[in-house]
Amino acid sequence: MAIDIEALKKQAAKAAVDLIDNGMIVGLGSGSTAAYAVISLAERVKAGLKIKAIPTSEQTKLLAIRNSIELTSFAQNSTIDITIDGADQVELSSLNLIKGLGNALLREKIVARASKKLVIMVDERKIVDRLGNKSPLPVEIIPFGWEVTQKAIEKFCPSSKLRLDKRGKPVITDSDHYVLDCLIPQINNAEKLDQDLKLITGVVETGLFIKMTNIVFVATESGLEQLQSK
Ligand code: A5P
Repeated sequence: MAIDIEALKKQAAKAAVDLIDNGMIVGLGSGSTAAYAVISLAERVKAGLKIKAIPTSEQTKLLAIRNSIELTSFAQNSTIDITIDGADQVELSSLNLIKGLGNALLREKIVARASKKLVIMVDERKIVDRLGNKSPLPVEIIPFGWEVTQKAIEKFCPSSKLRLDKRGKPVITDSDHYVLDCLIPQINNAEKLDQDLKLITGVVETGLFIKMTNIVFVATESGLEQLQSK
């Protein structure tokens, strides 16, 4: 029988939402798993849970508003108690992540950095021994001179593509940037790569989330697993 990936995503999302307590400021991630978490959180809010949320994308913001989740901002709350978000890859040994296939990596990283706890929700396909290979590393860049930025990135990532939408136009992020998808067979030193890429003029942020994760809920066919940072 085929694996029901959507059911697994919902299971991981629910486990993360169960960690949310009354009075918390909650960072809401982006992507399909995070969307399940928003719906699950909305059910708890309807049942009486009092929280305020900061979304990581315009899409999540809309979903939260539609589901009557009260929003706040960094002007009112500079610290987030818990952020619940998806990921594209989770490295098993370190819990380092690749994020950004959904175009939201910059806001996701700002929100994660402001959080006391980062809880990641994934299905089992996202767990890897080493980051890289399986999916590209997204790098958010300034549109002006993007070709020059791409050339500079080639030193670390020889093969990269500008992310395009269905009409063949460059994808524009919520912060008005472009995204380069960098194909890297195996990332041996993610921390160094993140630093090297960020030193390039024109690079805004990378999809590498290093030493940021506290807990990962992994939904597998045989049940839910919880990974904890050391
Ligand atoms: C958004 O930019 C991403 O970082 C998402 O968190 C990531 O792509 C996971 O999305 P899914 O839950 O849809 O796989």
